[in-house]
Parts: sequence; C-alpha cells; structure tokens
Amino acid sequence: MKRSLIDITEFSVEEIDQLLKTACDISENPKKYSEVCRGKKLATLFFEPSTRTRLSFEAAMLELGGNVIGFSDAGTSSASKGESIADTAKMISCYADIMAMRHPKEGAPYVASLNASIPVINAGDGGHCHPTQTLADLLTIYRELGRLENLTVGFCGDLKYGRTVHSLLSALARYKNIKIVLIAPEELKLPKYVKYEVLDKYNMEYVETTSLEEAMPQLDVLYMTRIQRERFDSYDEYERLKDSYILTAEKLETAKQEMRILHPLPRVNEISVKVDEDPRAAYFRQALNGKLMRMALIMKLLKEAEEGVPAHEVTDVVTEEFVCDNPRCITSTEQEIVHSFKCVNRENGIYRCVYCEAKKVKN
Ligand code: CP
Repeated sequence: MKRSLIDITEFSVEEIDQLLKTACDISENPKKYSEVCRGKKLATLFFEPSTRTRLSFEAAMLELGGNVIGFSDAGTSSASKGESIADTAKMISCYADIMAMRHPKEGAPYVASLNASIPVINAGDGGHCHPTQTLADLLTIYRELGRLENLTVGFCGDLKYGRTVHSLLSALARYKNIKIVLIAPEELKLPKYVKYEVLDKYNMEYVETTSLEEAMPQLDVLYMTRIQRERFDSYDEYERLKDSYILTAEKLETAKQEMRILHPLPRVNEISVKVDEDPRAAYFRQALNGKLMRMALIMKLLKEAEEGVPAHEVTDVVTEEFVCDNPRCITSTEQEIVHSFKCVNRENGIYRCVYCEAKKVKN
C-alpha cells in the first residue's frame, strides 16, 4: 500500500502549508513543472458526475507532462457488471501510477487504497469527505486574504450533507484563532459528530444561526454551499429546502469589503449571477486554485510512492464487534469487507466505522 489521500486529517498542517507553497510556485513558474510527470499516468475513476474535480485533475496531470486514462460514467466501466471496488483498484494499479476516485458510496476510495499498489486520491465519497476540494479552498483563502489564521468563517446552506464543509472544518480546526458561524436551516444543520469530534475537539469557537443577514457583517469568508439534492431521501423535503439561502448583491451590502465568497460549485440557485461581478466573489478563482493544488498533490504522492513512504495507518481498530448500518457506506455493497471500527472516545465507548465514520456506542 502506498500513501494515499482519503481524508484531509491525514496531512499535517506543515504538509498542507508545503502544498500551498508549491501551488503558489506552480502558478508563478508553470514551465518549471511542465515535465515533472513525464511518463506517468493518472487514472480518473468517476462513478459519480463531476465537472471541476475530474477535469482539474486531468488538466493538472497534463500540465505536469503526464498522461491521463479513466472513465467519467460508472455505466461504461465493469462496475456495471458487478466488479468490486477492491478488484477495480487492483486492475487500475496495473495500468496507472496514481488514481483519483469519486464514488457515491462513503469509504469507497479508502477500500481502493487498501487494495491498490499505487496512491489513491479521494475525489469525493458520498456525503463523507472531499479532501482535494479542501486543498482548493485553503489555497483560495490564503491567496485572497494572505492568511489561514485569525479568521471568522461562515458556512451557509447544506451543512448536513455538504462533504466539502466537513473536510474544510477538519482542516481549519488546526489553524489558530478560527471562529466558525454555521448558517443552516434546522433540517440541514452540521451533524453532531462533526461538532463533537472536530469543533469541540479543537476548542473552536462556533455559533449556529438560521440568519445569513445577521451573520454577514462579521465574516471574513462566506462559504456558500448547494443543497445536495442527490443525498435527500425525500424529493418533497428537497423542494421545501432548496432555496433556503440565496446570496444577492443586496445582501452583500453589510459585508466587509475584504470578505471573500467561496463556493465549491456547482451552484444551482444559491448565489445570484449578479454577485459574480463583485470582486469579493472568489469561486471561479477557487476552481483554478483546485487545479494548482491537485498538481502539487500529484507530485507529492508520486514522490512519496517512489521513496516508499508508508500508507496512513488507522489504529485502535476493532473488527467483527459491530456491523455498519449506514446504507451509504461502501460496506453495504462490497461483500468481502470486514466491518471495522476505530475507537474515537474510549471513556464513552464511541467507535466509528473506518469507511464512512458512522457511529457505534459500546454499552
Ligand atoms: N466542487 C466539485 O467537487 O465540483 P464537481 O462536482 O464538478 O467536481
């Protein structure tokens, strides 16, 4: 197993800062990097739709002088014939040097990393994690505001299913003096486990509100999100909540001039196109930053694979004690997986599925 990137917490702050530095250097000196991956292949395995993540991964590898293979529709792969993620990962290891995987099942890229002999990058797994979007978000904040400390960051919209929100909170938690404002309707509030295990664990100051207008004046960063239609069990519930927050030019009148608006995109209706003209709208620059960070990441993981840096190890794991009952977990479809849980709080007997982080409590 080679070192992969499944969850942003696998990277130290020093490693993230080094990636930011490399990405800035790539932006200033692109020629210096144009042959770095000559002869290397990236496989992009997208079992779920994507525009930015897949194309920016592909552009990243091409701009590093490498090549790209892959698919953008699970229906054209042998997954449609029932091939497992484990077998797919073994196969791809025969054809490529590194792979990026997006999958609707939470934990699928982790299963791939356990079975591949090349690095695996999680390009988004269900409502769980999206670590390379987080790298893009961090570079955007850094380039736009010049710092990743002493910030008040508002997250607005679907904080329940928004995997980019969970990943970015996990990263920001390790920077100094970050205040969080969680702006969401009752039904789409940040899951409790993220509050306890990220915000509380790192003693982050946070408030929850349903009012974007109230939060606006204090924010340095406003991170807007799409209501994630594909994660809802009920279409009626989606219809009821889909326009909970719409950012307009008028609503920005009380915002700081130096505030920056981020959005992982795609947007549906949550940011008026008029806002695009405002210099504070950073979301298209954010998409460019995604390519730069993916270039830096591909270089890092390929170098570490050559150097034999070991894979991230999940410790304190129990097997066969619990069964994961999250229907979105990869364990619900991948038959051969041994259900495994890591202990996150021994005192209270709290365990989490190593694939999707669903919770179990030991009585
Ligand atoms: N931000 C993001 O993940 O966009 P795509 O779904 O288009 O890849």
